[in-house]
Amino acid sequence: MIKKLILGLAVLLILIQFIRIDKTNPPLDKTKDFITLTHPSDEIKGILVTSCYDCHSNETTYPWYSNVAPISWWLKDHINEGREHLNFSVWGTYTEKRQQHKLDECIEEVHEGEMPLSTYTSLHKEAKLSPEQQEKINTWIATLIKKKQ
Ligand code: HEC
Repeated sequence: MIKKLILGLAVLLILIQFIRIDKTNPPLDKTKDFITLTHPSDEIKGILVTSCYDCHSNETTYPWYSNVAPISWWLKDHINEGREHLNFSVWGTYTEKRQQHKLDECIEEVHEGEMPLSTYTSLHKEAKLSPEQQEKINTWIATLIKKKQ
């Protein structure tokens, strides 16, 4: 019985490998990109690309384990959801109201340590933000927020 179960699971694991995720990045128009439009320092740019752009842009780099189902499905889900909520590659297409709202949210998420997602930083150590980096990124984002008169 146990043997059959294990065999069944093994077959299932092999079969699901045929259900591939789509790894083509959506088209990229650099003129609409957050970094192009807001000119951050190289340091801030580095933090954004390393810690946020895999999920919040059309410039995702897929790691090797993105070839392994069901991890690949879970990963793709995060990317789809991340882009849906906030896509830095299409920043220029957002209304000013939406941009301002997203900037507020970024500060909040980074301040609370919610972003980048901890499941991501456990595999991408370089993406983890130190308290100084959190501070730097939030100070920069705050300069983009228009104060209400
Ligand atoms: C591993 C993928 C991943 C990474 C890396 C990541 N995010 Fe996210 N982000 C998500 C997902 C998924 C959501 C939506 C679900 C949620 O809020 O947990 C989200 C939501 C957000 C939201 C909320 C947007 C809204 O309108 O609700 C903000 C703001 C945000 N992320 C900012 C960032 C910033 C800034 C970074 C880099 C410092 C970052 N994220 C890194 C996946 C990611």
